[in-house]
Amino acid sequence: MKANVVYFYVIFCFYAVIISANLFAGPDLKKEDEVIEKKVNELLAQMTVTEKIGQLQQLSYWGEKVPDELAEQIREGRIGSFLNAGDLEIKKELQKIAVKESRLGIPLIFGRDVIHGYRTVFPIPLGQAASWNPAIIEKAAAVAAKEASADGIHWTFAPMIDIARDPRWGRIAETCGEDPFLTSTLGAAMVRGFQGKNLADPQTIAACGKHYVGYGAAEGGRDYNTCNIPERELRDIYLPTFHAAVEAGVATIMSAFNEISGVPASGNEFTLRTVLRDEWGFDGFVVSDWTSMTEMIAHGFCKDNREVALKSMKAGVNMEMVSTTYATELEKLITEGLIPEKLLNESVANILRIKFRLGLFDHPVSDGSRQSEIFHPDFLKLAKQAALQSVVMLKNDNNSLPLSGDKTIAVIGPLADSPVDQMGMWTMDGRSEDTQTPLSAIKEKIGENHVKYAPGLKTSRTVDKAGFEDAVKAAEASDAVVLFLGEEQILSGEAKCRAFLNLPGAQEELVEVVAGTGKPVIVVIMAGRPLTFQHVTEKAGAVLYAWHPGTMGGPALADILFGVVSPSGKLPVTFPRTVGQVPIYYAHKNTGRPPSPSSLGIPMGTPLDPQGFTSKYLDVDFTPEYVFGYGLSYTTFEYSNLKLSAESMPMDGSITVSADITNTGDVKACEIVQLYVRDLFASVTRPVKELKGFQRILLEPGESKTATFTLKTGDLTFHDINMNNVTEPGDFKVWIGPNSKQGLEGGFKVVE
Ligand code: GLC
Repeated sequence: MKANVVYFYVIFCFYAVIISANLFAGPDLKKEDEVIEKKVNELLAQMTVTEKIGQLQQLSYWGEKVPDELAEQIREGRIGSFLNAGDLEIKKELQKIAVKESRLGIPLIFGRDVIHGYRTVFPIPLGQAASWNPAIIEKAAAVAAKEASADGIHWTFAPMIDIARDPRWGRIAETCGEDPFLTSTLGAAMVRGFQGKNLADPQTIAACGKHYVGYGAAEGGRDYNTCNIPERELRDIYLPTFHAAVEAGVATIMSAFNEISGVPASGNEFTLRTVLRDEWGFDGFVVSDWTSMTEMIAHGFCKDNREVALKSMKAGVNMEMVSTTYATELEKLITEGLIPEKLLNESVANILRIKFRLGLFDHPVSDGSRQSEIFHPDFLKLAKQAALQSVVMLKNDNNSLPLSGDKTIAVIGPLADSPVDQMGMWTMDGRSEDTQTPLSAIKEKIGENHVKYAPGLKTSRTVDKAGFEDAVKAAEASDAVVLFLGEEQILSGEAKCRAFLNLPGAQEELVEVVAGTGKPVIVVIMAGRPLTFQHVTEKAGAVLYAWHPGTMGGPALADILFGVVSPSGKLPVTFPRTVGQVPIYYAHKNTGRPPSPSSLGIPMGTPLDPQGFTSKYLDVDFTPEYVFGYGLSYTTFEYSNLKLSAESMPMDGSITVSADITNTGDVKACEIVQLYVRDLFASVTRPVKELKGFQRILLEPGESKTATFTLKTGDLTFHDINMNNVTEPGDFKVWIGPNSKQGLEGGFKVVE
């Protein structure tokens, strides 16, 4: 071979080696990640198979002291994590055994459901979502992390970022509602709040995107029920919120209880490996939900624990919550060659990576020095702000609200002074004595002598009307009535599904008798889901929806009721007129026979009308009671001057869309301006509207501001007929408005 050819060959080989080394070096790791990867691999190399399998085991422990057999298991390296592991002293004892008495001293990771606050309880997530305020939601999660970490908790099983379009499902309370864009934005904010900028900061905790994936699509709104989700809906509706969490750096993901079109989420290689790892590059760890692995036997997907361990490990569940199939089956499966030890090593590496990122090897458990910060007055101020911004005003005829402070007010209803119910679901670490109820807050605001209180009903489900007489008397002795109605805490959350959405118990009758006094009635509803309450609304001058507003719900509601602050919340979920309409949501398809607005049911006796053959009901208006994004204010806003920067945008281009918003009333208030688009024609049917942006705008009376949004072609993608995530050229509509029904309409094209 001639010299110059040899020279070229050598140079070529040199660069080929350099390039291939970089191409296959795995993800571009930041410096600290490289250090951590080195530590992970060094530790992994020292571990026995038993110790590796031990890292995959999470147990729940509620005890007051550590039993010997549990201590022994920890010493032998057979446990990697606990959830609900008692108070800080117990955590310290468990961690001391793991770090000081086991062979390799690998710290335990302590998990807990810190869902919407720890000791300071914020509004339930569905209520926080009604604020449409990622900034305050991030701050709330950061406060929860500060409090929980002070008590020795390293990891929360939140945010719950399932999409929910069925209010019968009890866990809708735990979601951010029906929309992928809103939930993605707010879920990412929660991840940032919990995890902060550095997971090793002792005041931060690891977050957990759950329940991966499709859990909210349970048929019939019945928890744990079958979820049949075609891949396009999975990718366009249910997966995006988890992708946003992964992009935000979520440390862990929880695999769900439900099946996804025949394959349980905890044994689903497509979602857990192909999507989560291969497509998204997620490098944290996956924890199963509570026994969601062994429940694959009940699903009929596994015949025994051995198959549970086999399918879960192959699918990519790294840590087993509470059930113990990895501990009992995995070593044999590896010995038999059915599970390559590589898969076990991957799982252990994912867990160790997060333990190193959390800094657990340097500070394995809180020293308790920050426990004095828990329930700090600043946290209560934030909780009040969050509650204020979560309240949605649904009706306010003739300015029934705000009330004037010099009147005598009857405070009536089972939720007027119910501190436990007000906190809502998932509040194991909240204390009822901390809760400031509406009754106490109203008394404080207008004076005890201006308040007549009568619960009327003992709880939201009571049918005993013995309290009605006192309620009527209280109303008759007052200038106006504020009725606090809704659902007690236990009626929403996990396994708390309802086939009806009406106000439980005898609450509607209570409204009847109180309204019968002729006094002006204001209704405040606290609930963990959208309810149906048309008959109540008809009898009320004004209606506020407060969800379960948490510790500071009382002072927040008092400020709104008496006009200190205008309500600004907007619905993160559609409210049906009746449960028979469910599922009902704004981003629906048009169908081939969309009903015209006039086809609101058909009066009895109408002859068969071939013109009336459209997608509607005979017995109820097909439209919702309240649309997604709806919410009133003490002022009024005018939208004008919609502008688009261009009539079309090229692929990979963008346009700006703007409108002016004017406060045309006499009260300073915040408006949540919303941007929606519609892809008019595509290779598959597309929703009639999709939220693509929102802004909170504070306006003084008479003030105008311009809301400007940038729309990129990348914001318009969907999974096309070939299941590719693309934006197709064509015609689009765009709206800027106050909710998903109203707005200024424009149009643009996407061109090749
Ligand atoms: C529950 C829930 C899950 C929770 C876990 C631990 O069953 O489904 O959301 O984080 O178990 O409590």
